[in-house]
Amino acid sequence: MTNTDQLVLTGPVGATASFNGKEYLYFGGTNYLGFADRIELQQGAVEAVKKYGSSFSASRETSGTGLLHLALERKLAQFKGTENACIYASGYLGNQILLSVLANPGDVVICDEWAHPSILEAIPRTVKEVRFYGHHDLEELAKLVRGLDRAIIALNGVETGTGEIAPLNEVLDILPEGDFQILVDDCHATGILGEHGRGTPEHYEIRSPNVYQTETMSKALGSFGGFIAGSKEFCDRIRETATTYIGSTPLPPAVLGACLAAVDLVMRESHLRQRLRDNAEYAASKLTNLGFQASFYGTPILFISNLDESGAKKLHLRLREAGIIVPFVHYPTSDSPGRLRLVVTATHTKEEIDRLCNGLKHA
Ligand SMILES: Cc1ncc(COP(=O)(O)O)c(C=O)c1O
Repeated sequence: MTNTDQLVLTGPVGATASFNGKEYLYFGGTNYLGFADRIELQQGAVEAVKKYGSSFSASRETSGTGLLHLALERKLAQFKGTENACIYASGYLGNQILLSVLANPGDVVICDEWAHPSILEAIPRTVKEVRFYGHHDLEELAKLVRGLDRAIIALNGVETGTGEIAPLNEVLDILPEGDFQILVDDCHATGILGEHGRGTPEHYEIRSPNVYQTETMSKALGSFGGFIAGSKEFCDRIRETATTYIGSTPLPPAVLGACLAAVDLVMRESHLRQRLRDNAEYAASKLTNLGFQASFYGTPILFISNLDESGAKKLHLRLREAGIIVPFVHYPTSDSPGRLRLVVTATHTKEEIDRLCNGLKHA
């Protein structure tokens, strides 16, 4: 295989996955809890399609709200310990939906420089100013908020590339008195962080009405679609004012059936979070012993920092020849160099992680 050969999935993703018709050990993607090939999600999807067909074919505001949408919103609220939740087509759209509700004309929006593109593209044109602080640089953030009495701070809860957890507790501590709201894109934290898997705020035991999370069901929850959980009043505000929510076709039955099963599982199988953490910690310590600088932040994304772009690409290809996939990622829209995106899941066995580490050693 050359490095231009595209990996095309020819089966479901799990601890192993088949690409281009060949089975590999798989350490990529975002199927952190291993839900994407669980029978419960498949059955949920099939039963929902049998009962409701393939699409609701209308927006929620007209005739497109189904029983399954209401059931999923209730179940997500239960999972999150909130009064209500609001679902929509993707995690990417969540930041547009949230910012359209939070931001007033003339507001200042302050972003971590690594904020996901879905945040940056979502900032309404009517805001007065967008400011950036260095990644997790709290001193710079403190300078940017000085003198303000209102602003929206936007950041990623868990970094998709490095697995770091945002210092949300410290961000809250440095804010002056005033009307400050924090958008946490928690797409990589849902199901992973916190005692109940409720994300970055729960990880720090933060219960602040000024912290808003945008979340996804397409990563740890193994299905698809975005959601925001909160008070009934806030979710109704989204339903009444967010044009992205109002003007788009809602999640279809198959996805809703799978999501309902996934939220049941994430509430019931809390041991998977511990297994995920143990697996990631085990892999990070083995890799460190082999001479890789593998950072472990308590999330399943392991960042190997002592590899340049060409080293990462070579390693990816050699591992691929050895039957192991660790994706080499280089987004065409990003200035940062390409790198390995190494993800351990809750369903990997210690033997599979040992095979990965041996593969890396020989590669
Ligand atoms: C931080 C972050 N936010 C949002 C998204 C988009 O979520 P979704 O895939 O559900 O649209 C992604 C990646 O997919 C992401 O990494």
